[in-house]
This record gives sequence, C-alpha cells and structure tokens, in this order.
Amino acid sequence: MTSAKLKLGVLISGRGSNLQALIDACAAPDFPAEIALVLSNKADAYGLERAAAAGIPTTVVSHRDFPGDKPAFEAAMDARLRGAGVELVCLAGFMRILSEGFVGSWRDRLINIHPSLLPSFKGLDTHARALATGVRFHGCTVHFVRPAMDDGPIVAQAAVPVLPGDDANSLAGRVLESEHRLYPHAVRLIAEGRARVDGDLVRIEGAPLALDAVVNPPF
Ligand code: GRF
Repeated sequence: MTSAKLKLGVLISGRGSNLQALIDACAAPDFPAEIALVLSNKADAYGLERAAAAGIPTTVVSHRDFPGDKPAFEAAMDARLRGAGVELVCLAGFMRILSEGFVGSWRDRLINIHPSLLPSFKGLDTHARALATGVRFHGCTVHFVRPAMDDGPIVAQAAVPVLPGDDANSLAGRVLESEHRLYPHAVRLIAEGRARVDGDLVRIEGAPLALDAVVNPPF
C-alpha cells in the first residue's frame, strides 16, 4: 500500500523550467508529491505545454479578465486550486504579486522560489545586482510566502559561486540549474513533514549536517 502523495498546485507565468523540474521529480515513484494542477495567468505560457505533455491538468486564470479587481482574480485562482484538491501551492515564476488575503488563506501552504540568497536581492534583476555588489556567492531560496515580497520562512537555499568573467546571463544559468535541484528537494522536505514552520523559521528534521565551509575564490 502506498501512502497518499501531497497534491501540488504550481503557479506559472512563463517558461516553466522550474515546473519541469517538479514534473520530473514527481515522475519518480518514491517522490512524496504529485502535481494536481498547473495554473497560469498567461494563456501563452510555455509551461502550460510542458504540463500538457506530462498529462497534468492545466488552467488559465488571466488577471486581464478582472481589470482593477484583484480580489476577484485571486478568488478565481483559489477556487480552481481548491477544486483540484491542492494542498501546497508552489509559485514557479508566477509574475503577479499576491495580496494579503490570498497569502493568508494559504499560510504555510504556499511556497516560492527566488533567484537569490534571501534576504539579499529581493525583487527583480537579482543576477545583475549580485554582480554589481561583488558577492562571491549567489544562489536561490525556497521560502514560505508572507505578504511582503520575497519574504517568509526559508526552507532551503542553494549557493553557487560567482566566477570571474560572469555576466548576468552566465550567472543566471548557473543559478537556474541550482533552482532545478533545490525546488524538488524543498518540496520533498515539506511533503515528508520534515520542514515545519516554527514562527519566522523553518525547522528541518532528519537532514544530514553540512559542515564544510565553501570558499570562493578557493584557497
Ligand atoms: C526563476 O528564476 C525563479 O526563481 C523566478 O522566476 C524564474 C522562473 O523561471 N521566480 P521558470 O519559468 O521556472 O523557467
């Protein structure tokens, strides 16, 4: 007998490479989650084709159909997600800012992946800003969503080195590869009940300790 898998709703607006990473992870029989619905606010999002190719139900809720009425837009999304039995909402390149009402109603059941090591570089253009700042490590973060943008308890992070000669594109590519590994890992931790929100923090159970310092530039 297999235990029930956590039902994911993935929200996208575009290319959907992180969605693809979740689709690929969910294809493994022992992965503890499955995608119940992919929801896009854009009908031409390439991620919808990825989902369809994997046989996953898709739906489009366009913000343009609710001009000036964000609560109605979010209520429509909420209804589709709940209708599909979604238990955890995963933002994966979803380019609309969600209101306090929506975020509150999915509290601790709504996660996001952001292309920086939060709390550094919230917002857009994270790779160019990391280069301009001269940090030696950059990366990505999966976090539970709170009403403030790119804020909330951190589940997991992946760090990548910033290399001599990097431009925003090369750095973005390195970070994106790390995103594709990190998002399924974070979802697994949550689905297995090993990542639990405790106030402003996430407590992780049963993970090995990473004890070695990583130095860049290397010794
Ligand atoms: C990713 O870099 C993600 O971190 C950010 O938006 C981008 C989405 O890319 N939130 P994709 O649509 O998953 O390819």
